[in-house]
Amino acid sequence: MKKIKYSFIIALIILSSCNNNSEKKQMPLEKIKDSITKSDWGTADGKQVYLFTLTNKQGDQVKISNYGGTITSWISTDKKGNRTSIVLGFDSLAGYLAKPPYFGATIGRYGNRIANGKFKIGSAEYTLAQNNGKNALHGGLKGFDKVVWDADAIIDSVPSLTLHYLSKDGEEGYPGNLQVTVKFNFSDENKLTIEYNAETDKPTPVNLTNHSYFNLTGDVSNTILDHELMINADHYTPVDTSLIPTGEIKAVAGSAFDFTRPEKIGARIDQVKGGYDHNFVLNRKDSTLQLEATLSDALSGRKLEVYTTEPGIQFYSGNFLNGNFKTSSGKPINQHAALCLETQHFPDSPNEPLFPSTILKPGQKYHSVTEYKLSLE
Ligand code: BGC
Repeated sequence: MKKIKYSFIIALIILSSCNNNSEKKQMPLEKIKDSITKSDWGTADGKQVYLFTLTNKQGDQVKISNYGGTITSWISTDKKGNRTSIVLGFDSLAGYLAKPPYFGATIGRYGNRIANGKFKIGSAEYTLAQNNGKNALHGGLKGFDKVVWDADAIIDSVPSLTLHYLSKDGEEGYPGNLQVTVKFNFSDENKLTIEYNAETDKPTPVNLTNHSYFNLTGDVSNTILDHELMINADHYTPVDTSLIPTGEIKAVAGSAFDFTRPEKIGARIDQVKGGYDHNFVLNRKDSTLQLEATLSDALSGRKLEVYTTEPGIQFYSGNFLNGNFKTSSGKPINQHAALCLETQHFPDSPNEPLFPSTILKPGQKYHSVTEYKLSLE
């Protein structure tokens, strides 16, 4: 009798702990609304699109949509107490369906250009969609920035959002089914961590990045030419007229590409034809997470530090922005209204055997981490 009583109590304990677990997993988002909320944002491709808002203990907010894995805003307080977003983005899905140039989006399967949209793996030759003159850019006509991802919002110690996408064999010409996960974490110290994981069933090039355009003043009426930038790179990859690397790894010393010490972006931009749109070869020797770039703006007092495990950063000074797109409040987004620091492997690596390889093989795990840390100076 005693034994039966004892096992009954144990069974009760097990049952109640199971209930707790399932309660935790199924916790409706409303219950955790202080740090993460989810709202319906319309539909695309017949799928539901959401906007997630991650709020940290300082009250700063990052908004992310599962449409394109897009960071739509990052609201922080500047030194004068103004709360503004430091990234370009729109308030509604319609803004993104109008195809802006990758504002805040997750880029894949291959960030930046592949020459002539062609590459070989062994003897197999592949042809991609040519969506940038004769080159392939940022994953093709419908890259990861234009698809609806599956989303799980989690509250752990910090609010976090994980997005999943299966890029099918042959999509945009790329070989292999690629299962991709992108996880965004927003810490109380205003650190936005983006972690990318991927696996494939056929060898394929993979180069994932985020295409946020930063303007630390929080107002596109100010250009980014007065922002100061430091990039930990003694070399960069020069490009031809269609922005494909020539294959050379060139020293930055003595040129307008030397950002090894903080420099104003506008100070030497006139010496660079078309403006900065180049891959910087980071000095790192391994793939640990390290501080590789710092952007600062005296007007707002904001400073953004970029940590990454990647070997390169594409510094793009918003050269092609031309006022065609407007912010949700109606301000035109003109040339140099914002800049990108895209952590990545080098453009056109599949055609450049001397660049670090971007080919992911079955059984290997693609893993890449980038952190953007915002503070006031
Ligand atoms: C590229 C630019 C391009 C921009 C928007 C950047 O990553 O380097 O050449 O115009 O993305 O598409």
